[in-house]
Amino acid sequence: MERNEIRAMMEKAYKENFGEEAPKEWYFAPGRVNLIGEHTDYNGGHVFPCALTIGTYGMIKRRSDRTLRFYSVNFPEKGVTVTSLDELNPGSNEGWTAYPKGVFWTFILNKYEINEGADILIWGDIPAGSGLSSSASVEVLTGTMIKDTYGFTNVTGVDLAKFGQYSENNYNGLSCGIMDQFASAMGKKDCAIFLDTNTLEYEHAPVKLPDAKIVITNSKVKHSLVTSAYNDRRRECEEALKDLQKVVGIKTLGDLTEEEFEAHKDSITNDINRKRAKHAVYENRRTIKAVEALKANDIETFGKLMNASHVSLRDDYEVSCKECDLLTELAWKQPGVIGSRITGGGFGGCTVSIVKNEAVDDFIKAIDEPYEKETGYKAEFYIVDIGEGASRI
Ligand code: GLA
Repeated sequence: MERNEIRAMMEKAYKENFGEEAPKEWYFAPGRVNLIGEHTDYNGGHVFPCALTIGTYGMIKRRSDRTLRFYSVNFPEKGVTVTSLDELNPGSNEGWTAYPKGVFWTFILNKYEINEGADILIWGDIPAGSGLSSSASVEVLTGTMIKDTYGFTNVTGVDLAKFGQYSENNYNGLSCGIMDQFASAMGKKDCAIFLDTNTLEYEHAPVKLPDAKIVITNSKVKHSLVTSAYNDRRRECEEALKDLQKVVGIKTLGDLTEEEFEAHKDSITNDINRKRAKHAVYENRRTIKAVEALKANDIETFGKLMNASHVSLRDDYEVSCKECDLLTELAWKQPGVIGSRITGGGFGGCTVSIVKNEAVDDFIKAIDEPYEKETGYKAEFYIVDIGEGASRI
């Protein structure tokens, strides 16, 4: 849909549901795809995501009382949710509104004075459950709207990412790292973000692929219990780190090279925890090497590192699923495929592939039918445009 059509649809929904004309300002925060560096962001490692041009749009009007009203054009059956600034309860199961509520709660916790409520309407075009960070985009969108509406001019993009992550950890109960919110807040057109999650130092690295496209393949698998499995991985890595710290002076798994890990890995007493830590250490090093390769225009090496990332996520970290394994295996067999891996939190969602321009049509054909035949799911394919981070439109 074109932006003017989106605007018209949202204006209409605003009037119908809030009984007032829509505000003139509106906002957008993108979803993200991670090219490499998976499950490293809560292990002090590096990530390399980019912002997409799909995401979540929002409109906000400040009120004179303490009421908060929320409406999503994606969930009309939920109607208008009415609450107040005094009823923000972390941990309560409140459906999608828990994301914007959590961000209000986080601002207030950080001593930003919010004494008046707001009416908020959103609509997003990230496919549900695809692992392309629709929740982070809602968080960063809400933060961007709060900053502008309440005049918190000192809040930076990095703050918005931190607030989004804090809110998701503490209001929604997912112990995620900062990658998704950072990509949504700090994205830059045609660049991926090389972020050191230990220091939050980052660099926008141009993704110049004149001969190839980045293709996202949506497996359409939405796994349940993702929150608990994700939190388990985080705990397993923390336990492994504690064991390693008895023998080597490190703060995070991201501090280790592969050689150092091999030299000290026997200090990790639990076999599963050792595999998880191995992934975290090797994936971090792969990410650093991949960015070096990209800068040297060595896209073949970049692709090989993507493939190795998938194998490690599948075998050591165990966050893939048979459908995403099939997608990557089919991709790896195709001529013109430079690299392919599962992307995001895992347990379903999407794969990301780099495919030579002239091979994209055949890539889609070669995966589409066999995938549906074997799994019963109809995959979807999106050719990526790398977009800007969150802003007022
Ligand atoms: C989810 C989390 C991120 C990151 C990825 C895995 O998307 O929100 O913080 O950990 O999984 O790389």
